[in-house]
Parts: sequence; C-alpha cells; structure tokens
Amino acid sequence: MRKLGRLATVVALVGMGVAARAGEVEVLHWWTSGGEAKSVGELKKIMQGKGHTWKDFAVAGGGGDNAMTVLKSRVVSGSPPAAAQVKGPAIQEWAAEGVLANLDSVASAEKWDSLLPKVVADVLKHKGHYVAAPVNVHRVNWMWANAAVLRRAGVASMPKTWEEFFVAADKVKKAGLIAVAHGGQPWQDFTIFESVVLGVGGAKFYSDAMVKLDPKALNSDTMKKSLETFRRVKGYTDAAAPGRDWNLATAMVMQEKAAFQFMGDWAKGEFLAAGKVPGKDFLCAAAPGTSTSYTFNVDSFAMFKLKDANAQKAQADLAAAIMGAEFQEVFNLNKGSIPVRLNMSMAKFDDCAKLSSKDFVDTAKSGSLLPSVAHGLAVRPELEGAIKDVVSQFWNEDKITVAAAQSRLVAAAVAK
Ligand code: GAL
Repeated sequence: MRKLGRLATVVALVGMGVAARAGEVEVLHWWTSGGEAKSVGELKKIMQGKGHTWKDFAVAGGGGDNAMTVLKSRVVSGSPPAAAQVKGPAIQEWAAEGVLANLDSVASAEKWDSLLPKVVADVLKHKGHYVAAPVNVHRVNWMWANAAVLRRAGVASMPKTWEEFFVAADKVKKAGLIAVAHGGQPWQDFTIFESVVLGVGGAKFYSDAMVKLDPKALNSDTMKKSLETFRRVKGYTDAAAPGRDWNLATAMVMQEKAAFQFMGDWAKGEFLAAGKVPGKDFLCAAAPGTSTSYTFNVDSFAMFKLKDANAQKAQADLAAAIMGAEFQEVFNLNKGSIPVRLNMSMAKFDDCAKLSSKDFVDTAKSGSLLPSVAHGLAVRPELEGAIKDVVSQFWNEDKITVAAAQSRLVAAAVAK
C-alpha cells in the first residue's frame, strides 16, 4: 500500500512537471514521401511522449525548395515556426538576420561538442553559438538498382566506372526497360551532375570546381568530360522524366520498370518503407568512380526565437531529443541515413548504412569527405541556385553545347 502511495505521488509529480512545461512545437519540413513521413513521425512520437503538442508544418517538394519559400514568408510576417529544416550555409544566413535562437545551454548540457564531428558542428554554429540541431548524415553519391532487372538484362554486378555503367545501361535498354529512373527537377539533375563530376574528376577536382567554384577548374578539360558524361546519362532516362518527383522515380526501380537511380540514401528509406530488402530486392553502390569519396548532406533543424516560455521549453526539448541516442537510431533506421551522433552502435543497420558509416569515417581521414552542392551543404543558396539553373538548362536543352555550358558555369560562379 505504502509503495503504491509513493508511486501515486511520483506519478502526480511527474504529471505536474509535464503539465507545467508542456508547449507546442511547430516544425516545418518537407518530409512527405512514404519513408520520410515515417521517419519524421518518430520525432513527433518522442515529443508527444514528453507531453508537448506537435504541430506539423509539412510543405511537399523534394529537396525543400517549396519549403524554403514558405519559411521566408512566415519569418518575414513575424510568425516563424519553432523549428525548420534548414541546412548548411543557409543556417548562417538566417542567423545573420538575428532570428535564430541560441541553443548553447542544451548543447552544453547534452555535450554536443563531443558528440558531433567538428566539420558538422561548425555548420550548426553561428559565431560560435549553436543555432541548429542535426538529425542525420545522408550520403548523396549513391547508385541504386533493382536486382531482378539487372539479372534480366544480364548485368552481373553494379558498375564501378562510368564506362562500365554505360555498358550496363545499354544492356538494360536492349532488354526493353528504362536504364535510369529520373525526376527532372533542378535539384535532382544536380544530384546526378555532382556524382558525375566526382566520378570523372575525383575528390580534389570536385572540391575545386564545385565547392570553391574555381574558374580554372570549371573551364578545364575535366569539366568538359564531366558535362559530356552527364549528357550521355540523360540518353538513358525516359521521356516522362521532366517534373517527376524523386520518390516516383524510386518507385519505377521498385516496380521493375527501371534499373538504376542516382539519388541520396533517402531513396533507401522509400525501398524500406515498401518492404524491400537491401542486397536482395535492391542494391546500393557508390556512384561510378566515387567509392573512395563521400558527398554528405546533413539534415538539421534551425530553431527560431520564440516569445512564449512554454514554447521555448518545448523547443529546447526538441533540440535535446533530436540529438538523443534513441531518436538518432530510430529516425535513421527509417530515413536511410546514418546517425550524426558519434559512437552510436550500427548493429541494427543494414549493409548500405554500414558502408556509409565506414566510408564517412575513412573519407574524413583521407580528405575526400565533401559537402553536397545539390543539397545545400556547400555554397550559399543564391549561388547554388544560379549554378543549378545552368546545369538544368544544359540537361534539358540539347542544343546548348558543352562549351557554352562551361562558360555559363564560370559566369554564374563569378557573378554572385
Ligand atoms: C534532401 C533532404 C533529404 C530528403 C531529400 C528529398 O534535401 O536532405 O532528407 O528528404 O531532400 O526530399
């Protein structure tokens, strides 16, 4: 009886505690596909478990272009959400506007500095203060394939070079299937482009041409070869690609309509959500020529300044939950990415994730861990938009020559 009485007191106190600090968190994100929605649902569950109210602010559109437009109008009108999916250099731009909250007390209580790779922590800090919380590490330079389609087409293994890729793609075409499932949107075009540049030119060239936007690298023969190779890939996509969403392209691979897709490992989240088994139904490999490099895309939530004390508390709890081991595991198992928090067990993860985790560590040591331009980790948003436009125009209009595309790239890089 006495024990029960004590338990009741504890329960009452815990209940009071929760009630006193419960608040609402409005979270802006673009995770609306099957695998993405399942993943963000895990964060919602954790926040609700802490007694908070989750207000979902989902803006559809892979890559987040639509979401960023909506975010701007909300902030300008003075009613920002508690948290918004913002990544890379864009975090610095929001922080410079003075609209982001300082997360240092959560970060130091939870020891973020010792739990995050420095290259990641630096992206999340503005003038030395944390303003965003990271959820994962996505690898962008992946190639996905349907195992049954490859068998049917007589492709024995995943191609390792671009030349091998074109041989395999010809076999798929001959078998009457689509070689490359693609969605023609600028961020998807660029996802292929940066993997081609990395595969053709290697890590140093990628860094010079794509991250530093060095005019010499952009004007080089290696860039010429990259653009030629990129254009060749287009010949293996179907006529209905323009405008298609990325997850519909993934579905084409799942449904044995297409062999390959070049996409970050959120595609794996789609395969898994549909019950497909890695290594059996679908295969993962680094994009041709890129196995010793890693283009990374770290999703993170920037936290906006809020006035209400309960909302601030809920926001701090959200930041702590995001970096918590429980969330990092369950979210990333669903999302296709790997935990960004260091020293997590990979025991429950599949072989694609284990490879990603090993390559992340190895490439960080060798200097070939590189930020993805397509996914907003490498250059300022305005500049990124300008070079994406050049690449998508080249992809869409066959009459634009390689030489013209090269000089447009240089012009876009120096103009901004
Ligand atoms: C990326 C984002 C991923 C994934 C993808 C497609 O930019 O980092 O988490 O959601 O867009 O929507």
